[in-house]
Amino acid sequence: MSAILPPASPVWWKQPLDRVEATWILLAFAWCLVMFFMMPYWHIFGKQNLSNEAYRTSPEMFAKKAQAMVDQSTVRTETAEKVPVVHPPAGSDVYLIARLWQWWPILELEKGKSYRLHLTSMDYQHGFSLQPENINLQVLPGYEMVVTVTPNREGSYAIVCNEFCGIGHHKMVSKLYVK
Ligand code: CUA
Repeated sequence: MSAILPPASPVWWKQPLDRVEATWILLAFAWCLVMFFMMPYWHIFGKQNLSNEAYRTSPEMFAKKAQAMVDQSTVRTETAEKVPVVHPPAGSDVYLIARLWQWWPILELEKGKSYRLHLTSMDYQHGFSLQPENINLQVLPGYEMVVTVTPNREGSYAIVCNEFCGIGHHKMVSKLYVK
């Protein structure tokens, strides 16, 4: 067959399956199944994929809850934009807003205490990546992602946005403190 000339037989695709072709189809299919079952496997036995919950929300609803936490638990402000640093009560619900191009507010958590971390975006898709921990979450507008976190090491962590979100994407960095 040639790519330029029309095929000699009009039903050129209806030929018996070649053994080599069948072997490759089987190999590819088997590998698909391996990868498919690795997804639940890594979720249970791996350390990166978190069991998170997702709920519908709106920017207004979420901002209200975040603002209430900021009003109650702000201990200081940081950076030129005066981002509030919040030290919420141990074990409480904490809220983090992603927006062009900022994380708001800065959270200060206590070591060994569990928190319900709520995340949403006010505009487009962002990515929550906690460094140097290997934690990644997609942050989507209209959805409230909730994940239970228990910080096990004191220090200052970096939050970077890992979904390209426009011209200020590279500046969308923040901190998370554990005391
Ligand atoms: Cu937000 Cu990239």
